[in-house]
Amino acid sequence: MNKWNILITWWLWYIWSHVVVDFLANNYNVVVIDDLSNSNENVKWNIEKITWKEFQFYKVDLKDKESLREVFQKHNFDWVIHLAWYKAVWESCEKPFDYYDNNIIWSLNLFKLMEKFNVKRIIFSSSATVYDSEKQDAPFYEWHTVWNTTNPYWTTKLIIENILRDLSNHKWFKVTNLRYFNPIWAHKSWLIWEDPNWVPWNLLPYIMKVVTWELKQVNIFWNDYDTKDWTWERDYIHVLDLSKAHLDSFELQETSYEEINVWNWKWTSVLEIIEIVEEIIWRELPKQILWRRSWDIATLFCMNWKSKAVFWYEQNYSIREAIQDQYKFVMKNKKEL
Ligand code: WQD
Repeated sequence: MNKWNILITWWLWYIWSHVVVDFLANNYNVVVIDDLSNSNENVKWNIEKITWKEFQFYKVDLKDKESLREVFQKHNFDWVIHLAWYKAVWESCEKPFDYYDNNIIWSLNLFKLMEKFNVKRIIFSSSATVYDSEKQDAPFYEWHTVWNTTNPYWTTKLIIENILRDLSNHKWFKVTNLRYFNPIWAHKSWLIWEDPNWVPWNLLPYIMKVVTWELKQVNIFWNDYDTKDWTWERDYIHVLDLSKAHLDSFELQETSYEEINVWNWKWTSVLEIIEIVEEIIWRELPKQILWRRSWDIATLFCMNWKSKAVFWYEQNYSIREAIQDQYKFVMKNKKEL
């Protein structure tokens, strides 16, 4: 028995392919739109191979209002899960207006059609970077103030959160803003993973390119932080746990507005991540210490009391398991190249 009809806006190659897998596996009718600017339809076939279920895909850009309207016309959506985002911090600093257009203006096209077609439930992929880390100390709770984002990408997250809060207060939208930070990803089937065609900027995808000799060495962005090995610590979350949090937050379908941190409350440093990869591949990786990245946040961590209370969030996959999954994916697909 199929449940809700869900529109998922995303980039096919991005980690959200795991969300589609989870929703299909739970008998939701899933429709996906993506402009394919960063991906191809192979991911769709892999998702269908994993789930043995088909789903409707439309090559539609959120800025194409007419095509987007036709998708809403064809499907009687109950929910929208909004994940389609430009997501590179450094790029947002170089091209702020591309980020404001894509992440804010084109999102408004989506929200306007949601209202027009009376689709009032939305889960938004927000970020813990909305918390004001200048005015208050971590760990951040959902009631902490949000402000002082340090780059255009994070600013767009903050602005969309506020727009959705307005729509909840004045247009009867039911909104769940999920705030997380460092997803790491690979599906157990090793069929889907973020495998960008360009040099990745996030730690783990970059390391995997060094593992497969596509890149020369791992860059460690500075090492004078007050941590056990002087390198940055992060609360990494396996995308399968993160994807399940999207599924579980459907439990909130009747609440008008929620902000929820989705965090594991466990810290792994850059050197620890590298050490885990080296243990898995049985060899040392070439590495060098580089300068600190301008946007790197020293202390960003959040309490997960609410996700545990509201939809019983728990960490089911260890970071080591996530890294092993990624490594198996990379080697499997590398051999096929
Ligand atoms: C992790 C740690 C780096 C690369 C990013 C976005 C943020 C969020 C999640 C949405 C950091 C260090 C990294 C490398 C390194 N997305 N590092 N060498 O920057 O914590 O967060 O993804 O909300 O917007 O900024 O993730 O994986 O880039 O870095 O030393 O080659 O690894 O300094 O401490 P980050 P990351």
